Amino acid sequence: MSAPHIILTAGPTIEPLDPVRFLSNRSSGKQGYALAGALTARGARVTLVSGPVHLETPPGVIRIDVETACEMMAAVEAALPADAFIGVAAVADWRPAERHAQKLKTDKAGFANLKLAENPDILRTIAHLPPGRRPALVIGFAAETEADPVALETLAHQKMRRKGCDMIIANDVSEGVMGGDNNTVLVVSKEETSKIPHADKSAIAAQLAGTVMALLGNHRKV
Ligand code: C5P
Repeated sequence: MSAPHIILTAGPTIEPLDPVRFLSNRSSGKQGYALAGALTARGARVTLVSGPVHLETPPGVIRIDVETACEMMAAVEAALPADAFIGVAAVADWRPAERHAQKLKTDKAGFANLKLAENPDILRTIAHLPPGRRPALVIGFAAETEADPVALETLAHQKMRRKGCDMIIANDVSEGVMGGDNNTVLVVSKEETSKIPHADKSAIAAQLAGTVMALLGNHRKV
């Protein structure tokens, strides 16, 4: 059986306003990169579509660098078909409506009235592709500031429905997860919820990779 192809997004996107300024989200890319490496180590062919981060590409991973959400969307679509899509990136939901070629002067009134345009929702778009083109498994991440596991699970179910994906990996980012080396996650699917207790991001990635590869094995048998 050929290796499953998994497309994974990681890192932030940056949305330029002018040559020196941009809108972005806080994301180190560590969890996404660790997951890309762990999936490759388990035999998957991984295409990692990455926003700007300061990380080495894990061995064997095919990496495509992008900056904006629109570029990330196009790179993901170009990398299809895939058996699974995993959206780990912290995609900026909005971008400056206009990208100025020259640095905006700070005395311009423009700053107070910045117009924004909505970015594509990559996870939602991939989850709603027609059968045959939609990856068998579409997984999203949810970074919430909700420490209570019951509330976190409820939010994950709502997000899964809103996005149309098959699984949400939810974490509470209220304490030191952003940029840190540790994480605690809830793995929420329609059928069940399981918890991966506080661990190193690479240990979490290894467990998640095992779950994803097992699910892909099941999908491929049917
Ligand atoms: O609801 P929220 O946008 O925070 O959901 C986060 C999930 O959606 C993550 O998996 C993230 O990678 C994905 N996402 C996306 N495109 C966007 C926004 C979020 O793929 N524009």
